[in-house]
Parts: sequence; C-alpha cells; structure tokens
Amino acid sequence: MNDNTFKDEACAPIPGAIIGREIIFFSTTSSTNDAAIEIGKQRDNPEGIVVIADEQTGGKGRFGRKWESPHGVNLLFTVLLKPKLTPQQVSLITLVAAIAVTHAIRKLTGVTAGIKWPNDILINGKKTGGILTEIKACANQIDILAIGIGVNVNMTPDMMGKEIRTLATSLKIEKGTSLNRAVLFRAILAELETYYKILLRGDSVTLIQEWLSLNSTIGNTVSVRNQDSVITGVAEGINESGELLLKLESGETKTIYAGDVTILKKGSEDPRG
Ligand code: BTN
Repeated sequence: MNDNTFKDEACAPIPGAIIGREIIFFSTTSSTNDAAIEIGKQRDNPEGIVVIADEQTGGKGRFGRKWESPHGVNLLFTVLLKPKLTPQQVSLITLVAAIAVTHAIRKLTGVTAGIKWPNDILINGKKTGGILTEIKACANQIDILAIGIGVNVNMTPDMMGKEIRTLATSLKIEKGTSLNRAVLFRAILAELETYYKILLRGDSVTLIQEWLSLNSTIGNTVSVRNQDSVITGVAEGINESGELLLKLESGETKTIYAGDVTILKKGSEDPRG
C-alpha cells in the first residue's frame, strides 16, 4: 500500500466519534506525541484529535528510550484528550489504551496478544506494541493528555536493530502474513472509543477486570526495574489506579507506580506470553 492509499484509508471520517473526530497525517514527523501536543495547544478543544505518521525521526519510548520504526510499515500515532478526568481516571487511561490495542489485534489477527504491566503489548513473550502517555499544561492551565501508540505491524526481523531482534516482534512475523495497517488503526480507534466511554462513566471496575483478562503479568514472579533499583516478587494484581501490587519475599506487598517488568518465572501455563 502506498503512502496516499494508507493516508486516505486511515484518515477517512468516523461519523459521531470522539476518538478520531479529526485525523491528521504526516508522512514524516519528529514524534507524533510532540506534533500532537503542538497541535493541541492551538486548539480550543483537542479532545479526540489523532495524529498519525508513516515515520518518526525522533520517536520516543518510555524512560527516554528511542522508538525506532522504518517508513510505512508500522502504526505510529497519538490520541489527544483534554478531558475532565479525576487523577484515578488519568492513571487508568494508559490501561484503556493497552486494552484497546490488544482487543483490536486479537479480533483482526486471531493472534493471542497480551498486556505486560503497565502497557506493553506482547505476543509469545516479545514486544509488538508500546504506549507512551504524556501530560502537558497549556497556557490556560488545562492539561492535554497525549497517548502515543506504536504497534509493529508489517516489520520484518531484518528491519530491526540487533539489540531488539530477540525482544521484539510484529504482527506479520507472528501471523505470517501482512496486515492492512489502516484497518488495524481504525479498529484500535473504535476500541478506544468504547473503553474511553467506560472510563468517562467512571466504571473503573469493568476496565480493571478487562485489563486483568488480557494481561500476561499477574501470577508470575517478576523483577521491576525503576531508575537504579530492581525489585523482585510475585505480581499479585493491580489496584484501582492500575498500579502493580508486588508480593515480596518478606511477605510485604509493595505498590509499584512505574517501571520495566521482566517475567522471571511463570506462575502457571499462560498462552498469552
Ligand atoms: C514504550 O513502550 O516505550 C512506548 C513506545 C511508544 C511509541 C509511540 S510511537 C507513536 C508515539 N510517538 C512517539 O514518539 N512515541 C509514541
């Protein structure tokens, strides 16, 4: 599919939608998060604007890492929200995005993608998607939430740097066939619309149950790396704000707010990887 076909299919109007009520396409941009935040600052109501690019020259991952993706093979986009959310709802928004991406992948490919806390999308233990949520204050003090989503769709191993080849995968690698990126993109937006509305009506219980049903972390022995510390324990669950509850060897349960999880030992047989 050439750039224009992708652009036309991806950016077609979505009648009645909040998420994707305006879709802005770049062939190349530095980072869709940065571009979206700049656009959001100029708008009275950025809620639901989506910025999508075929390529990023400065794609950002969590903890200051880079997010690398060749031109025109993967999904790189950012959803802007400017909602009246409570702090608990803001912390759940990344879980909403992970649920939406995982559902869309499962429905379109039949591949059993799972979520590694907080928001990595894994297939067979390898990363196929990531989410970077940023909050920015505007001049008028109202925050913009930028939810950046990267999904490895049609990337092949030769397109990956050596350092990530053993850790990363794509839908094409897992399924064995190429996928229409625009169809997946619009399926993710539709799922986001559904779960965002659940968040807005305050039903965090449904969201947490949904996240738990798709997760591949809970029940396993994991290590969590955060800046310079590493903590090991059994991932017991998540609390009502989506934070990880880790049972340490001492018997104490620690609440983890952020970090990189490595699964050390599976608690039970889990096909989600
Ligand atoms: C992670 O797992 O480290 C998060 C990766 C997030 C990558 C996406 S790609 C689209 C958006 N723009 C960025 O610069 N980053 C996010």
